[in-house]
Formats: sequence, C-alpha cells, structure tokens
Amino acid sequence: MNEIFSPAHKPVPHESAARHAAGSALYIDDARQPEGLLHAWVITSTRAHARILTLDLAAVRAAPGVVATATAEDIPGTNDAGPILAGEPLLAERVVTYAGEPIAVIAATSLAAARHAAGLAAITYEDLPAILTIEAARAAAAYVVPPMRLERGDPDAAMAAAPHRLTGRAEAGGQDHFYLETQIAQAEPGEDGALHILSSTQHPTEVQHIVARLLGRPYAAITVEVRRMGGAFGGKESQASLIAGMAALLAHKTGRAVKLRLVRDADMVITGKRHDVQARFEVGYDDAGHILALDMEIALRAGNVADLSGPVLTRALCHADNAYWLPDIRVRGYACRTNTVSNTAFRGFGGPQGIFAIEAAITHVAAALGKRPEDIRARNAYGPGRDITPYGQPIGADNLPRIMAELETLAGIPARRAAITAFNATHATIKKGFAVMPVKFGISFNLPSLNQAGALVHVYTDGSVHLNHGGTEMGQGLYVKIAQVVAQGFAVSLDQVHVSSTRTDKVPNTSATAASSGTDINGMAALAAVETIKTRMAEIAARKLEGDPADVVFADGRVFVGNRSLAFKELAQACWAERVSLSATGYYKTPEIHFDQASMSGHPFYYFAHGACAVEAAIDTLTGAARILAVHIIQDCGASLNPAVDIGQIEGAFIQGLGWLLMEELVWDADGRLQTHAPSTYKIPTARDVPPVFVTKLLDNAPNAKPTIFRSKAVGEPPFMLAIGAWLAVQDAVANASSWECALKLNAPATPEAVLRALGK
Ligand code: MTE
Ligand code: MOS
Repeated sequence: MNEIFSPAHKPVPHESAARHAAGSALYIDDARQPEGLLHAWVITSTRAHARILTLDLAAVRAAPGVVATATAEDIPGTNDAGPILAGEPLLAERVVTYAGEPIAVIAATSLAAARHAAGLAAITYEDLPAILTIEAARAAAAYVVPPMRLERGDPDAAMAAAPHRLTGRAEAGGQDHFYLETQIAQAEPGEDGALHILSSTQHPTEVQHIVARLLGRPYAAITVEVRRMGGAFGGKESQASLIAGMAALLAHKTGRAVKLRLVRDADMVITGKRHDVQARFEVGYDDAGHILALDMEIALRAGNVADLSGPVLTRALCHADNAYWLPDIRVRGYACRTNTVSNTAFRGFGGPQGIFAIEAAITHVAAALGKRPEDIRARNAYGPGRDITPYGQPIGADNLPRIMAELETLAGIPARRAAITAFNATHATIKKGFAVMPVKFGISFNLPSLNQAGALVHVYTDGSVHLNHGGTEMGQGLYVKIAQVVAQGFAVSLDQVHVSSTRTDKVPNTSATAASSGTDINGMAALAAVETIKTRMAEIAARKLEGDPADVVFADGRVFVGNRSLAFKELAQACWAERVSLSATGYYKTPEIHFDQASMSGHPFYYFAHGACAVEAAIDTLTGAARILAVHIIQDCGASLNPAVDIGQIEGAFIQGLGWLLMEELVWDADGRLQTHAPSTYKIPTARDVPPVFVTKLLDNAPNAKPTIFRSKAVGEPPFMLAIGAWLAVQDAVANASSWECALKLNAPATPEAVLRALGK
C-alpha cells in the first residue's frame, strides 16, 4: 500500500505550516480591504462601577476622519451579547460595571483618526460601590449564576469518622489569553440588509446569532467566515461576538465596511480572561493517606456578567476529583459577580481550577503525614471497585496505571529523586523540588446539545476534493487532521484535499470549536459525508468494473473490484457522466452522554483523556526565581491522528500552563483598573522558559476504547493541566528550602515575589 494515500496517523505538517513560516498565511487584518473600509475604535469606561451622568460625543464626531459614532441607542435590535444568559449589553447603557467596558464605538477613515477622536469623548460619571474581589463578592453573596453543589455519599459523617482532619486553602490567579492575533472582525454590508463578517472566532454560529440579535435581522441574512485565527485558547469563544457586534453595528449605521481590531492594550483591558480561583477545603484521611472525606469550596471570579462562567464552574466541579477516588465528597461552587472584566473560556475551561484545588488539598495531606505527595496521589488513584466519579460516571477504560508505570522509567524517577536529595544536601541557596502528577480530563461539552457537528464535502471531476466543516482553525491543527480523515476515507493523497474557510452559510448551526472536541466531532461528520459519496461512487465503480458494490475498495488513489481498477479521478468523471451527485453533507452527534445540571450528575463525558508528568524545578532562595529544569510527559492521544501536531499541542499547552502557574500575574489597582495590560508589565513564557530537558511521549498502542474518529483522543486542553505539576515541584523546592508549613502558603502564580513571601522573606 502506498503511504501517501493513507495519511491518517502520520506526522504530516500543519496545513498552513509553510505559509505560517513564510508569512503568507492570511489573517483578517491581511484580507484585501473592501472599497471605503472604515476603521473602528472603542470608547471604554474608566470606572469599575458608575452611573453615566453625561455622554457627549460631539467633539468625537467633529474630529478629522470620523464618519460615525454609535452608542447603545443606535442598536436597532436588542442590546444583548450574552452567549447563554440574557442581559449582557454590548454597549453600556446608563451604568458601567467594569473599567474597560465599551460605551461607544467610532468609525473613521483610519485607525489613527478613530483612536485620536476617542480621546475627545466627554463622559461624566457618578461612582457606585464596586465589588472587586472574590472575598467581597462572597461577603455580598453576589453571583452571576446560582451557587452549585456536587455531592456524593455522606461527607459530614465520613469527615466525623475520619482518623485525621485538616483544613486548608489555595489560590490561583487569572490569565490573559495573549493570542498573537488580537481580537478582530470586519463587517461588510451586502444587498438587502445582508452582512458578511470576517471574524476571528471559535464560534461563527454564535457571532451570527448575536449580530442578528443586535441588528434585528434573521440569522440567514448574516454570514460569518473565518479561515484561521492567530491563536484563540478559549478567548475567542464568546468574546469574539463583542468585537464582531461592534463592527457590525458601525457597518449597519454607515452602510460601509468596517474593521475593528483591538490593539494589545485594549484587548487586555476590554476582553475576559481565565477565572482566578480561591479554594478552601476540609479533608478527612487516615494514616496511610487515603482521603475518606472531602468538603471543598471553589470560588471563581466571574466578573461583571455571566458569559460562560456557569459552564466553566460546572467543569471546575467535575474536575475537583482529578484522577482520584474520593468516596464521600461535597464540592460547592461560586461564580462571583465582581466589577471587573467578565472572565471566560480559557484552555481547560474550569478544569485547571478544579484540579489545582484537589492537588493543593493532596499536598496538605502529604505534609500533615510527612509523606511524599506523589505517594498520596498514588494511594488515592482510581482503580477497580473505586472507579466512579463524584457525578456518577464510571471511569471506563483507564490508561493511567500504564502511564504512571511508563513515566517512572521515562523520567528515571528513583535516580532523579536521589540526585535531587543529594543536590539539596550540598547547596545552600539553590534548592530543588520534584513532583509527579496525573491528569484526567473529561472530553465532551458538559451540555449534551453542544456535542454535534456538520461537514460539507465535494468531489470534483478532476478528483480534487473540497472540504468544509463547522470546526475552526486556531493553530491547533484541526484542519489538517480533518483533511487527513477525508484523504484516508477516499484513499487519495492529502494534497488532493482542499480545506476551506469555516462559514455559517456552508455548514449551519455549529458548536464552538472548544472543549477539545473539534476533531472528534467534525472528523466524524466529515467521514460521514465521505461515506455517503463513496456509497454513490461504489455503485458506478461496480458497474464499470463489473462487480458488486459491496466489493468495491478505495485504495492507493484508485478504486478496485478485485484486480480491476479505475483512478479515483476517472471514477469521479464517470459519476458525473452518469449524473450521480458528488457532493454531500455529513453530520455527527456524540453518543451516550447526558448530564443533569440540577443534581450535577450523569455521564457528561464520552471518555477521559489521561496524561501524567514528572517535573524537576529549582528555586533561588535569594531572589525567589524558579526554573523548571526537567519535564517528562506521557499523554494518551489514543491512536493519534497526527503525532506531530499532538506533540506540539502537548508542548504548547504545558508551556502555556507554566505561564499561568509560575509567571503571568494580573494586577488591578484599588479602583479596579487593570495595571498589567501589555507585555511590558505582563510576563508570558518565552523560548527561554522552555525546560532544558523537555521530553514528551504519546502513549503507544492505546486506541481509544470508544469508537471515536479512527480511535484517536482529544489533546487540545488536557496537557495544560500537567503544568500544575510544575507548580507542585516549585512548592516542593520551597519545602526543601524551608518547611512544608512555608510551602503550603505558596499560591499561584509562583512568581519570585510569591516564592520569597512563602519563604518568609
Ligand atoms: N492550540 C493553538 N495553537 N491555538 C489555540 O488557540 N486552543 C486550545 C487548544 N489548542 C488553541 C490550541 C483550546 S482552548 C481548545 S478547546 C482546543 O485547542 C480547540 O481545538 P480542538 O477542539 O480542535 O482541539
Ligand atoms: Mo477551549 S477553553 O474549550 O476554547
């Protein structure tokens, strides 16, 4: 068999790799500019919570180059951009609820003109009391969705009966997405009120819906298109609709094409981030370190509106077990309403916060017992007879025991641990730490209705294939993976398959490309379309080759019946001549899943993606600086569709996680204004932060037990949480430098200041 015609499971490059490297991949800001294109800028609130007393834009409108301004009053439909709940205005009306909230938008003949004019807005406010922190919101019982509770067994009785009990807390900060391409949309009016929108969005259908709602137009009048994003990471799941909404409003008002591109500072101030988290826990445990009871609170800072905070909190609660059997458990969740930017989806979608919380609790147990944290982790692992999650879903196929065993060898754990102990015995200022941790991540959207996808495939008479589906490309390699599926299905070469922009007029009613499920659901939808076309083609092939349709085989760029064959292209031509359609849609919905939000129970995930890491860190006890010295990762990608892309996802996710846990720090001033809104003050990881030893391995011979697309497993988010292992290794280093009492005070991010504080310096 010729390998070229079976590209699935091969490490082929990302479909745009060469164009990315050459700078010829087109992003929205590179798109050919329509005639008369206007450039937009946003006027934002400078107050965290205030009544708008006067809003005077006369000087703005009179400024050179300004063509139009728009406020909430100019919205012809409903001023609501809420993705799930109603009441989340696109532009503030009368009251502002965070510093940075859009109040008005400007369209001008150049970006510079729009930007200059914004400074001429005259706005007066009457300040109102602002709630800025999780503590303040908890004290006021201010939440964006009702508090949640996930409970199993009798945690109170189990706690009372446990030989030991402890309480503790842990906090992790938020995180800016810092996609390289900032938020952008370009809206172009067409005939009869139609609008074509180029949007850097993970969710074209939602942009379509929200723009239609804002303008009071039918969905069918709005077309949203995205070829690729320059990174998204969850930040363009709901937030992109705000940007597209503002561009669409100005296009509607002016009748001209309008582009809104946020510069970095504006992007960081205006759009939502990862939720910071405060966790408190009481743990009941025995001498061996078995956790017998857990009572936990997870409080997220949601910001001024709900946005996606409800589902984010649900996922946090559904990951507070991580990979551990916790028989009697209660987890309460709070999405705190604050006068800060509305936090949103970010790689892991609440999972990182839930897993961070339980890992912190486990470390507390280890410290109290004077045992190694990884031994407590192993002690509490899911296993036979203890393999049902707190929300009632059986773990199913569990590759973690194998992963942990192989990691022991891959990382040389015993020798490494001995070397670290020896190092620490002979070094006074530099101290090393070590951590081993597993991750279990549930794959599927918690809301079952979102787990559906569609695709559109055409075969042309020269044998080339046009592929479209509802998933979006944000750098994660979705397009190449789906193209591999289609090429494999037709047994044609990958370069015969042409991927095309995601568009709401090609594949309608799609879900966000999120929850790591892009390949799972769009791959199956595309394969369904391929199978439909193949069935039709097989009829013709059987006739031409004098055989039975059931005996037709697509292989090596040809179509066979026994040893008689036709080139794929010849068959395509023959189908056309016989008047057989070579175009089909495909559809897929994930089977088996259900979830009851009220009782927080059910089977929300089709399967789990597992991984584990071993991390060696060092801290400088004089400066507090932490370095990650060695990382070994084994991740279960099932039968990986593309090992090169998957390794890239694991490495990228881990380094992005390092940013969250070790260096990225968001700082607001006492008035609720974000101080860290540019790379000058907000430190993201760079090439220098990549650990000198960074070994990433896919678990081999591990086809998904579930019939996913070619038995692969999702990879986009799960490895992000492995970086919690880096934070644990730094914490271990702090313990080795001082004491566990000090180390347990360490929060995330473990910046040099935080490390010094934990050391009591
Ligand atoms: N990888 C890159 N390069 N850029 C991104 O924006 N987003 C992540 C992940 N990997 C992202 C990425 C997030 S948050 C998700 S949910 C998945 O990709 C989405 O894509 P998938 O479902 O196709 O894995
Ligand atoms: Mo990813 S946070 O589900 O977009």
